[in-house]
Amino acid sequence: MTVLSTLAPVPSDEIFALNRAYATDDNPQKVSLGVGVYRTDDGKPWPLPVVCEAEQRLLAEDSPFRHEYTAIEGDMAFLELARDLMFGFSSKDTSEELQNTKGRIGSVQTVAGTGANHLGALFLATQMKPKRVWLSNPSWANHLTIWELAGVPRKTYPYYNATTRSLDFTGMMATLEEEAEEGDAILLHACAHNPTGLDPNKEQWKEIADLCERKKLFPFFDSAYQGFASGSADEDAWAVRYFLNEKPNMEMCVAQSFSKNFGLYGQRVGAFHYVLPNGDQKLRDIVVNNLCHLIRGEYSMGPTGGCNIVKKVLTNDELTAQWHEDLKIMSSRIKSMRKALYEELVRLQTPGSWKHIVEQNGMFSYTGLTPSQVYALKDKYHVYLLKSGRASISGLSKKNVTYVAQAIDDIVRNVN
Ligand code: LMR
Repeated sequence: MTVLSTLAPVPSDEIFALNRAYATDDNPQKVSLGVGVYRTDDGKPWPLPVVCEAEQRLLAEDSPFRHEYTAIEGDMAFLELARDLMFGFSSKDTSEELQNTKGRIGSVQTVAGTGANHLGALFLATQMKPKRVWLSNPSWANHLTIWELAGVPRKTYPYYNATTRSLDFTGMMATLEEEAEEGDAILLHACAHNPTGLDPNKEQWKEIADLCERKKLFPFFDSAYQGFASGSADEDAWAVRYFLNEKPNMEMCVAQSFSKNFGLYGQRVGAFHYVLPNGDQKLRDIVVNNLCHLIRGEYSMGPTGGCNIVKKVLTNDELTAQWHEDLKIMSSRIKSMRKALYEELVRLQTPGSWKHIVEQNGMFSYTGLTPSQVYALKDKYHVYLLKSGRASISGLSKKNVTYVAQAIDDIVRNVN
């Protein structure tokens, strides 16, 4: 008899289970608003033109080193570019001040954003040993899994006000003020909060930073949508950079993903940055060395394929400029689809207010649809979204937005 005879099944991941259900649905009108991936107006994946160009150049180079091992911490040149993009460092700035700030940051390559979150959680769990981690309610479901696997007890702070369909900033701050304790980690979405699409404004970010500093909480940023949300890589990194520059005595970390902003989903490109407090630069190499220990025991080093593409783009001014244009194309198409869905629902006089769809930011809309309405949308109309009501706006197009709005209208009128 197998030693696994008591093995119990775990619930399958909702996002990828939905993806599979969608793929096997042969209804021609089906619409995928599930997984967060960019789609064109024809509902097709979009290898970014700049990525295609970088691939061509890499192919032409025919480097014999292209499949070699890198280092355990990853590709050094890539890591510097990733760090500079995240924290807004200019390669032309050689000031001592910037060298000092760079000296605070230890970076390693990861298996995309999930890998960066996981590595960071594992590192904190083994070194800092936080009593608990605070996650927004709701948060990306995988955050729960990642911290569960790292063995850190999870608590949630209020984030979403279901009545007003807006950010519950007061609730968030009150809970953290009253219940969070020194040394707790707090997970923050750098921009384009997943799943709600609701981000704190700059004044609110400042208050969060003050609270973290005052209560000695450890900010753990998840940055999965830099440049993808607003179309500006600088704007989407504002909160992370504010914490870095305005709270130099605080430590924190950032999980950085290139999946969405370069459209390199399956390539698994990412980085983890640990930011030491000013004055502790001497510890940076030891931090990296400890991260390398975890990496070596788990995956030896990050994959090179996608990382070489990002490196090719970010080391060339012309390609970097083209990438910024590609970001604008993606973010503006998503914004136009938010508007189109909103206008259709208003035109149909669908009961309720739908303004939140255009007010939310990034890949998702937290529609406010109930689990039974979500189920009915799938069952009756073959429109797929998460049971929380999260819809990946990128799945909408000029061709299907009327159909989706009519489906929502019918369901909202007839299902609770
Ligand atoms: C999502 O939330 O749909 C994406 O971030 C994909 C994923 O890995 O869950």
